[in-house]
Amino acid sequence: MTPSALPALPGAPWLARVDGELRLEGHALAALGRRFGTPLFVYSRQAMRAAFDAYEQALRGRPHLVCYAMKANSNLAVLQTFARAGAGFDIVSGGELARVLAAGGDAGRVVFSGVGKSRDEMAQALQAGVRCFNVESEAELDTLNAVALGCGRVAPVSLRVNPDVDAGTHPYISTGLKGNKFGIAHGQALAAYRHAASLPGLRVVGIDCHIGSQITQLAPYLDALDRLLDLVEAVEAAGIAIGHVDVGGGLGITYTDEQPPAAGELVARVLQRLDARGHGGRELLFEPGRSLVGNAGVLLTEVRVLKPGETKNFCIVDAAMNDLVRPAMYEAWMAIEPCQLRAGESSVWDVVGPVCESGDWLGRDRSLAVQPGDLLAVLSAGAYGMAMASNYNTRPRAAEVMVDGDRVHLVREREGYSELFARERLLES
Ligand code: LLP
Repeated sequence: MTPSALPALPGAPWLARVDGELRLEGHALAALGRRFGTPLFVYSRQAMRAAFDAYEQALRGRPHLVCYAMKANSNLAVLQTFARAGAGFDIVSGGELARVLAAGGDAGRVVFSGVGKSRDEMAQALQAGVRCFNVESEAELDTLNAVALGCGRVAPVSLRVNPDVDAGTHPYISTGLKGNKFGIAHGQALAAYRHAASLPGLRVVGIDCHIGSQITQLAPYLDALDRLLDLVEAVEAAGIAIGHVDVGGGLGITYTDEQPPAAGELVARVLQRLDARGHGGRELLFEPGRSLVGNAGVLLTEVRVLKPGETKNFCIVDAAMNDLVRPAMYEAWMAIEPCQLRAGESSVWDVVGPVCESGDWLGRDRSLAVQPGDLLAVLSAGAYGMAMASNYNTRPRAAEVMVDGDRVHLVREREGYSELFARERLLES
Protein backbone atom coordinates (compact mmCIF):
# COMPACT_ATOMS: atom_id res chain seq x y z
CA MET A 1 0.00 0.00 0.00
CA THR A 2 1.30 3.44 -0.86
CA PRO A 3 0.80 6.45 1.42
CA SER A 4 -1.48 8.04 -1.15
CA ALA A 5 -3.82 5.02 -1.35
CA LEU A 6 -5.81 6.30 1.62
CA PRO A 7 -7.36 9.69 2.35
CA ALA A 8 -4.93 11.98 4.14
CA LEU A 9 -4.95 11.42 7.89
CA PRO A 10 -5.34 14.41 10.19
CA GLY A 11 -1.71 15.21 10.86
CA ALA A 12 -0.54 14.47 7.32
CA PRO A 13 2.07 14.75 5.87
CA TRP A 14 3.92 13.96 9.10
CA LEU A 15 1.44 11.24 9.92
CA ALA A 16 1.08 8.64 7.16
CA ARG A 17 0.30 4.98 6.66
CA VAL A 18 3.04 3.15 4.80
CA ASP A 19 2.67 -0.58 4.04
CA GLY A 20 -0.11 -0.84 6.59
CA GLU A 21 2.01 0.75 9.27
CA LEU A 22 1.15 4.10 10.85
CA ARG A 23 4.18 6.37 11.00
CA LEU A 24 4.89 9.78 12.47
CA GLU A 25 7.79 11.59 10.80
CA GLY A 26 8.71 8.17 9.43
CA HIS A 27 8.81 6.48 12.86
CA ALA A 28 6.63 3.39 13.16
CA LEU A 29 4.21 4.15 15.98
CA ALA A 30 3.80 0.49 16.92
CA ALA A 31 7.55 0.26 17.57
CA LEU A 32 7.48 3.42 19.70
CA GLY A 33 4.55 2.05 21.69
CA ARG A 34 6.40 -1.22 22.34
CA ARG A 35 9.61 0.58 23.25
CA PHE A 36 8.18 3.14 25.67
CA GLY A 37 5.00 1.35 26.76
CA THR A 38 1.42 2.58 26.59
CA PRO A 39 -0.49 4.81 27.04
CA LEU A 40 2.00 7.04 25.26
CA PHE A 41 1.70 10.46 23.67
CA VAL A 42 3.94 10.93 20.64
CA TYR A 43 4.50 14.37 19.11
CA SER A 44 6.11 15.47 15.86
CA ARG A 45 8.43 18.40 16.38
CA GLN A 46 8.44 19.17 12.68
CA ALA A 47 4.65 19.34 12.61
CA MET A 48 4.70 21.82 15.50
CA ARG A 49 7.36 23.95 13.84
CA ALA A 50 5.48 23.94 10.53
CA ALA A 51 2.25 24.98 12.23
CA PHE A 52 4.04 27.87 13.91
CA ASP A 53 5.79 28.86 10.67
CA ALA A 54 2.42 29.12 8.91
CA TYR A 55 1.47 31.99 11.26
CA GLU A 56 4.93 33.54 11.03
CA GLN A 57 5.07 33.46 7.23
CA ALA A 58 1.69 35.08 6.90
CA LEU A 59 2.70 37.80 9.39
CA ARG A 60 6.07 38.47 7.82
CA GLY A 61 6.87 42.16 7.45
CA ARG A 62 4.19 43.16 9.97
CA PRO A 63 4.72 44.01 13.62
CA HIS A 64 3.44 40.91 15.39
CA LEU A 65 3.85 38.32 18.11
CA VAL A 66 2.46 34.80 18.05
CA CYS A 67 1.89 33.77 21.66
CA TYR A 68 1.47 30.00 21.99
CA ALA A 69 -1.49 29.29 24.30
CA MET A 70 0.44 26.76 26.30
CA LYS A 71 -2.57 25.34 28.11
CA ALA A 72 -2.98 23.17 25.01
CA ASN A 73 0.24 21.28 25.69
CA SER A 74 2.68 22.52 28.28
CA ASN A 75 5.41 19.90 28.07
CA LEU A 76 8.75 21.67 28.52
CA ALA A 77 10.13 20.31 25.24
CA VAL A 78 7.11 21.67 23.40
CA LEU A 79 7.58 25.08 25.02
CA GLN A 80 11.28 24.98 24.23
CA THR A 81 10.50 24.20 20.59
CA PHE A 82 8.25 27.23 20.29
CA ALA A 83 10.55 29.50 22.32
CA ARG A 84 13.42 28.65 19.97
CA ALA A 85 11.17 29.40 16.99
CA GLY A 86 10.57 32.89 18.39
CA ALA A 87 7.13 32.43 19.91
CA GLY A 88 5.72 34.28 22.84
CA PHE A 89 3.34 32.54 25.25
CA ASP A 90 -0.20 33.05 26.44
CA ILE A 91 -0.32 31.90 30.06
CA VAL A 92 -3.14 31.58 32.56
CA SER A 93 -1.37 30.79 35.84
CA GLY A 94 1.79 31.23 37.83
CA GLY A 95 2.53 27.58 37.15
CA GLU A 96 2.49 28.21 33.43
CA LEU A 97 4.86 31.15 33.88
CA ALA A 98 7.25 28.90 35.83
CA ARG A 99 7.14 26.41 32.95
CA VAL A 100 7.91 29.09 30.34
CA LEU A 101 10.95 30.18 32.32
CA ALA A 102 12.07 26.58 32.91
CA ALA A 103 11.87 25.94 29.17
CA GLY A 104 14.07 28.95 28.35
CA GLY A 105 11.19 31.20 27.26
CA ASP A 106 11.31 34.98 27.55
CA ALA A 107 8.91 36.58 30.06
CA GLY A 108 8.99 39.73 27.92
CA ARG A 109 7.04 37.78 25.30
CA VAL A 110 4.37 36.51 27.69
CA VAL A 111 0.77 37.68 27.87
CA PHE A 112 -1.06 36.70 31.05
CA SER A 113 -4.76 35.88 30.58
CA GLY A 114 -7.35 34.53 33.01
CA VAL A 115 -10.39 35.72 34.94
CA GLY A 116 -9.11 34.93 38.42
CA LYS A 117 -5.43 35.77 38.76
CA SER A 118 -4.25 35.77 42.37
CA ARG A 119 -2.27 38.62 43.89
CA ASP A 120 0.71 36.30 44.20
CA GLU A 121 0.50 35.40 40.54
CA MET A 122 0.29 39.08 39.62
CA ALA A 123 3.38 39.86 41.71
CA GLN A 124 5.26 36.89 40.26
CA ALA A 125 4.45 38.02 36.71
CA LEU A 126 5.43 41.63 37.45
CA GLN A 127 8.74 40.49 38.89
CA ALA A 128 9.39 38.28 35.89
CA GLY A 129 8.56 41.21 33.59
CA VAL A 130 5.74 39.82 31.47
CA ARG A 131 4.81 41.72 28.36
CA CYS A 132 1.26 42.37 29.47
CA PHE A 133 -1.68 41.35 31.61
CA ASN A 134 -4.86 40.58 29.71
CA VAL A 135 -7.27 42.01 32.26
CA GLU A 136 -10.75 40.51 32.38
CA SER A 137 -12.71 42.74 34.80
CA GLU A 138 -12.79 46.20 36.37
CA ALA A 139 -12.10 44.63 39.75
CA GLU A 140 -8.93 43.07 38.38
CA LEU A 141 -7.72 46.52 37.27
CA ASP A 142 -7.89 47.76 40.86
CA THR A 143 -6.23 44.69 42.33
CA LEU A 144 -3.45 44.73 39.74
CA ASN A 145 -2.90 48.45 40.33
CA ALA A 146 -2.52 47.84 44.07
CA VAL A 147 -0.16 44.90 43.57
CA ALA A 148 1.95 46.85 41.07
CA LEU A 149 2.24 49.84 43.40
CA GLY A 150 3.19 47.44 46.21
CA CYS A 151 6.05 46.04 44.11
CA GLY A 152 7.12 49.46 42.85
CA ARG A 153 6.27 48.57 39.26
CA VAL A 154 3.90 49.65 36.55
CA ALA A 155 1.79 46.84 35.11
CA PRO A 156 1.31 46.81 31.32
CA VAL A 157 -2.35 46.05 30.62
CA SER A 158 -4.57 45.05 27.76
CA LEU A 159 -8.30 44.75 28.35
CA ARG A 160 -9.90 41.54 27.26
CA VAL A 161 -13.10 42.63 25.62
CA ASN A 162 -16.06 40.32 25.30
CA PRO A 163 -17.26 41.20 21.79
CA ASP A 164 -20.53 39.22 22.08
CA VAL A 165 -19.81 37.22 18.93
CA ASP A 166 -20.93 33.63 18.45
CA ALA A 167 -17.92 31.52 17.52
CA GLY A 168 -20.23 28.69 16.45
CA THR A 169 -18.46 26.08 18.54
CA HIS A 170 -19.21 23.75 21.48
CA PRO A 171 -20.82 25.70 24.36
CA TYR A 172 -18.08 24.60 26.80
CA ILE A 173 -15.39 26.15 24.61
CA SER A 174 -17.24 29.24 23.44
CA THR A 175 -16.00 32.27 25.32
CA GLY A 176 -16.98 35.45 23.47
CA LEU A 177 -20.69 35.62 24.22
CA LYS A 178 -22.37 37.93 26.73
CA GLY A 179 -23.33 34.98 28.91
CA ASN A 180 -19.71 33.78 29.26
CA LYS A 181 -17.58 34.62 32.29
CA PHE A 182 -14.79 36.03 30.13
CA GLY A 183 -13.77 39.55 29.33
CA ILE A 184 -15.20 43.01 29.88
CA ALA A 185 -18.51 43.71 28.15
CA HIS A 186 -18.05 45.70 24.98
CA GLY A 187 -20.37 48.43 26.24
CA GLN A 188 -18.31 48.91 29.42
CA ALA A 189 -14.89 48.76 27.86
CA LEU A 190 -14.43 52.49 27.16
CA ALA A 191 -15.17 53.32 30.79
CA ALA A 192 -12.81 50.54 31.90
CA TYR A 193 -10.03 52.00 29.71
CA ARG A 194 -10.58 55.44 31.24
CA HIS A 195 -10.37 53.86 34.67
CA ALA A 196 -7.21 51.94 33.76
CA ALA A 197 -5.57 55.09 32.37
CA SER A 198 -6.29 56.91 35.62
CA LEU A 199 -4.49 54.36 37.81
CA PRO A 200 -0.81 55.08 38.52
CA GLY A 201 0.20 51.43 38.73
CA LEU A 202 -1.09 50.60 35.24
CA ARG A 203 -0.05 51.43 31.70
CA VAL A 204 -2.42 50.66 28.81
CA VAL A 205 -0.62 48.75 26.06
CA GLY A 206 -3.29 46.91 24.09
CA ILE A 207 -6.67 45.33 23.59
CA ASP A 208 -7.54 41.66 23.27
CA CYS A 209 -10.29 39.14 22.86
CA HIS A 210 -10.65 35.38 22.56
CA ILE A 211 -13.98 34.16 21.33
CA GLY A 212 -13.70 30.39 21.63
CA SER A 213 -11.91 27.29 20.51
CA GLN A 214 -12.11 24.84 17.59
CA ILE A 215 -13.50 27.63 15.40
CA THR A 216 -13.92 26.54 11.79
CA GLN A 217 -15.19 29.78 10.21
CA LEU A 218 -13.52 33.11 9.46
CA ALA A 219 -16.59 35.30 9.96
CA PRO A 220 -16.61 35.27 13.79
CA TYR A 221 -12.98 36.42 13.83
CA LEU A 222 -13.68 39.30 11.48
CA ASP A 223 -16.80 40.31 13.41
CA ALA A 224 -14.84 40.27 16.67
CA LEU A 225 -12.02 42.25 15.07
CA ASP A 226 -14.45 44.90 13.85
CA ARG A 227 -15.88 45.20 17.35
CA LEU A 228 -12.34 45.58 18.77
CA LEU A 229 -11.38 48.20 16.20
CA ASP A 230 -14.54 50.21 16.96
CA LEU A 231 -13.33 50.32 20.54
CA VAL A 232 -9.73 51.13 19.62
CA GLU A 233 -11.01 54.15 17.73
CA ALA A 234 -13.26 55.26 20.58
CA VAL A 235 -10.56 54.76 23.23
CA GLU A 236 -7.91 56.57 21.21
CA ALA A 237 -10.36 59.41 20.52
CA ALA A 238 -10.57 59.70 24.30
CA GLY A 239 -6.80 60.25 24.38
CA ILE A 240 -5.69 56.80 25.50
CA ALA A 241 -3.22 55.17 23.11
CA ILE A 242 -3.72 51.48 22.42
CA GLY A 243 -0.65 49.67 21.17
CA HIS A 244 -1.36 46.15 20.02
CA VAL A 245 -4.48 44.31 18.98
CA ASP A 246 -4.62 40.69 20.16
CA VAL A 247 -7.28 38.60 18.43
CA GLY A 248 -6.77 35.54 20.65
CA GLY A 249 -6.57 31.94 19.53
CA GLY A 250 -9.24 29.44 18.70
CA LEU A 251 -8.50 28.29 15.16
CA GLY A 252 -9.87 24.77 14.69
CA ILE A 253 -8.15 21.68 13.35
CA THR A 254 -9.36 18.61 11.49
CA TYR A 255 -10.51 15.76 13.73
CA THR A 256 -12.83 14.18 11.20
CA ASP A 257 -14.28 16.15 8.30
CA GLU A 258 -13.91 19.72 9.59
CA GLN A 259 -12.31 22.07 7.09
CA PRO A 260 -11.11 25.02 9.13
CA PRO A 261 -9.36 27.87 7.36
CA ALA A 262 -5.58 27.50 7.25
CA ALA A 263 -3.65 29.72 9.66
CA GLY A 264 -2.26 31.67 6.70
CA GLU A 265 -5.74 32.40 5.44
CA LEU A 266 -6.95 33.54 8.84
CA VAL A 267 -3.96 35.85 9.22
CA ALA A 268 -4.33 37.24 5.69
CA ARG A 269 -8.00 38.07 6.25
CA VAL A 270 -7.30 39.71 9.60
CA LEU A 271 -4.50 41.80 8.07
CA GLN A 272 -6.77 42.76 5.19
CA ARG A 273 -9.43 43.98 7.60
CA LEU A 274 -6.86 45.91 9.67
CA ASP A 275 -5.60 47.60 6.50
CA ALA A 276 -9.10 48.36 5.26
CA ARG A 277 -9.85 50.14 8.50
CA GLY A 278 -6.61 52.10 8.53
CA HIS A 279 -4.92 50.10 11.31
CA GLY A 280 -2.30 48.39 9.12
CA GLY A 281 0.70 49.54 11.14
CA ARG A 282 -0.63 48.29 14.43
CA GLU A 283 1.07 45.37 16.16
CA LEU A 284 -0.99 42.20 15.88
CA LEU A 285 -0.96 39.36 18.41
CA PHE A 286 -2.41 35.87 18.10
CA GLU A 287 -2.80 33.27 20.86
CA PRO A 288 -3.10 29.93 19.06
CA GLY A 289 -3.04 26.72 21.06
CA ARG A 290 -4.75 23.80 19.37
CA SER A 291 -3.78 24.80 15.81
CA LEU A 292 -0.07 24.67 16.74
CA VAL A 293 -0.02 21.28 18.44
CA GLY A 294 -3.29 19.37 17.95
CA ASN A 295 -2.54 17.55 14.74
CA ALA A 296 1.11 17.09 15.73
CA GLY A 297 0.37 14.43 18.35
CA VAL A 298 -1.20 11.02 18.82
CA LEU A 299 -2.06 8.92 21.86
CA LEU A 300 -0.99 5.29 21.58
CA THR A 301 -2.90 2.66 23.49
CA GLU A 302 -2.92 -1.15 23.64
CA VAL A 303 -6.03 -3.27 23.28
CA ARG A 304 -6.45 -5.20 26.52
CA VAL A 305 -9.77 -6.98 26.25
CA LEU A 306 -12.40 -7.49 23.57
CA LYS A 307 -15.87 -7.78 25.02
CA PRO A 308 -18.56 -8.33 22.40
CA GLY A 309 -22.07 -7.87 23.77
CA GLU A 310 -25.72 -8.00 22.84
CA THR A 311 -26.11 -4.31 22.08
CA LYS A 312 -22.53 -3.05 22.07
CA ASN A 313 -19.09 -4.44 21.44
CA PHE A 314 -16.48 -3.04 23.76
CA CYS A 315 -12.83 -2.76 22.85
CA ILE A 316 -11.16 -2.09 26.19
CA VAL A 317 -7.83 -0.32 25.85
CA ASP A 318 -5.21 0.78 28.36
CA ALA A 319 -5.76 4.54 27.83
CA ALA A 320 -8.73 6.14 29.52
CA MET A 321 -10.56 9.35 30.26
CA ASN A 322 -7.81 10.30 32.69
CA ASP A 323 -5.34 10.30 29.78
CA LEU A 324 -7.62 11.96 27.23
CA VAL A 325 -10.76 13.55 28.61
CA ARG A 326 -12.00 15.32 25.47
CA PRO A 327 -14.44 12.58 24.37
CA ALA A 328 -15.91 12.25 27.89
CA MET A 329 -16.02 15.98 28.51
CA TYR A 330 -17.13 17.42 25.17
CA GLU A 331 -18.30 14.30 23.34
CA ALA A 332 -15.37 15.11 21.07
CA TRP A 333 -14.87 12.85 18.06
CA MET A 334 -11.25 11.85 17.63
CA ALA A 335 -10.06 9.45 14.93
CA ILE A 336 -8.80 6.03 16.10
CA GLU A 337 -6.52 4.07 13.81
CA PRO A 338 -4.72 0.74 14.25
CA CYS A 339 -0.96 1.27 14.34
CA GLN A 340 -0.62 -1.77 12.10
CA LEU A 341 -3.45 -2.78 9.78
CA ARG A 342 -4.40 -6.43 10.17
CA ALA A 343 -6.20 -8.67 7.72
CA GLY A 344 -9.67 -9.87 8.66
CA GLU A 345 -13.16 -8.61 9.20
CA SER A 346 -13.82 -5.33 10.95
CA SER A 347 -16.43 -5.12 13.69
CA VAL A 348 -18.02 -2.06 15.23
CA TRP A 349 -16.56 -1.28 18.64
CA ASP A 350 -16.89 1.25 21.39
CA VAL A 351 -13.29 1.97 22.31
CA VAL A 352 -13.29 2.45 26.08
CA GLY A 353 -10.79 2.70 28.91
CA PRO A 354 -10.49 0.72 32.14
CA VAL A 355 -11.75 3.56 34.38
CA CYS A 356 -14.88 2.86 36.41
CA GLU A 357 -17.24 5.28 34.67
CA SER A 358 -19.59 4.74 31.76
CA GLY A 359 -18.38 8.11 30.45
CA ASP A 360 -14.91 6.62 30.04
CA TRP A 361 -14.80 6.24 26.29
CA LEU A 362 -12.41 7.36 23.57
CA GLY A 363 -14.54 6.59 20.53
CA ARG A 364 -17.96 5.12 19.87
CA ASP A 365 -19.14 2.88 17.04
CA ARG A 366 -15.76 2.57 15.36
CA SER A 367 -15.23 0.00 12.67
CA LEU A 368 -11.95 -1.74 13.45
CA ALA A 369 -10.24 -5.07 12.86
CA VAL A 370 -8.51 -5.57 16.21
CA GLN A 371 -7.16 -8.26 18.51
CA PRO A 372 -5.94 -8.04 22.11
CA GLY A 373 -2.38 -6.77 22.21
CA ASP A 374 -2.81 -4.57 19.11
CA LEU A 375 -1.84 -0.93 19.35
CA LEU A 376 -4.25 1.82 18.40
CA ALA A 377 -3.54 5.51 17.85
CA VAL A 378 -5.97 8.25 18.81
CA LEU A 379 -5.19 11.00 16.33
CA SER A 380 -5.07 14.79 16.78
CA ALA A 381 -4.28 14.28 20.46
CA GLY A 382 -1.46 16.82 20.69
CA ALA A 383 -3.72 19.52 22.13
CA TYR A 384 -5.67 19.27 25.40
CA GLY A 385 -4.59 15.66 25.82
CA MET A 386 -1.76 15.32 28.32
CA ALA A 387 -2.42 18.89 29.48
CA MET A 388 -5.81 17.79 30.84
CA ALA A 389 -4.72 14.37 32.10
CA SER A 390 -5.37 13.37 35.70
CA ASN A 391 -4.53 10.54 38.06
CA TYR A 392 -8.14 9.40 38.46
CA ASN A 393 -8.33 5.73 39.54
CA THR A 394 -4.71 6.18 40.73
CA ARG A 395 -3.51 5.79 37.18
CA PRO A 396 -0.01 7.11 36.49
CA ARG A 397 -0.02 9.72 33.76
CA ALA A 398 1.28 8.61 30.36
CA ALA A 399 4.80 9.11 29.08
CA GLU A 400 5.48 11.58 26.26
CA VAL A 401 7.84 11.20 23.33
CA MET A 402 8.85 13.75 20.73
CA VAL A 403 10.19 12.68 17.36
CA ASP A 404 12.31 15.10 15.37
CA GLY A 405 13.70 13.84 12.07
CA ASP A 406 15.58 10.66 12.85
CA ARG A 407 15.72 11.40 16.57
CA VAL A 408 13.39 10.13 19.28
CA HIS A 409 13.28 11.94 22.62
CA LEU A 410 11.51 10.81 25.77
CA VAL A 411 10.25 14.21 26.95
CA ARG A 412 8.32 13.00 29.99
CA GLU A 413 8.77 9.75 31.86
CA ARG A 414 5.78 7.70 32.84
CA GLU A 415 4.77 8.34 36.45
CA GLY A 416 5.42 5.68 39.07
CA TYR A 417 2.90 4.57 41.70
CA SER A 418 4.78 5.95 44.68
CA GLU A 419 4.89 9.41 43.10
CA LEU A 420 1.12 9.42 43.03
CA PHE A 421 0.78 9.46 46.81
CA ALA A 422 4.16 10.83 47.83
CA ARG A 423 2.60 14.01 49.26
CA GLU A 424 -0.05 12.21 51.29
CA ARG A 425 0.32 11.45 54.99
CA LEU A 426 -0.91 8.58 57.14
CA LEU A 427 -2.53 9.60 60.41
CA GLU A 428 -0.61 8.90 63.58
CA SER A 429 -3.38 6.93 65.24
N1 LLP B 1 -6.31 32.37 24.51
C1 LLP B 1 -7.16 32.22 25.55
C2 LLP B 1 -7.42 33.37 26.43
C3 LLP B 1 -7.79 30.98 25.77
O1 LLP B 1 -8.64 30.85 26.78
C4 LLP B 1 -7.51 29.89 24.91
C5 LLP B 1 -8.15 28.59 25.12
C6 LLP B 1 -6.61 30.10 23.86
C7 LLP B 1 -6.03 31.35 23.68
C8 LLP B 1 -6.23 29.00 22.90
O2 LLP B 1 -7.31 28.51 22.18
P1 LLP B 1 -7.06 27.44 21.02
O3 LLP B 1 -6.23 28.10 19.94
O4 LLP B 1 -6.34 26.29 21.61
O5 LLP B 1 -8.41 27.08 20.58
N2 LLP B 1 -10.04 21.94 26.46
C9 LLP B 1 -10.80 22.36 25.30
C10 LLP B 1 -10.31 23.70 24.76
C11 LLP B 1 -10.34 24.81 25.78
C12 LLP B 1 -9.78 26.11 25.28
C13 LLP B 1 -9.61 27.10 26.38
N3 LLP B 1 -9.03 28.36 26.00
C14 LLP B 1 -10.75 21.26 24.26
O6 LLP B 1 -10.12 20.24 24.49
O7 LLP B 1 -11.38 21.38 23.22
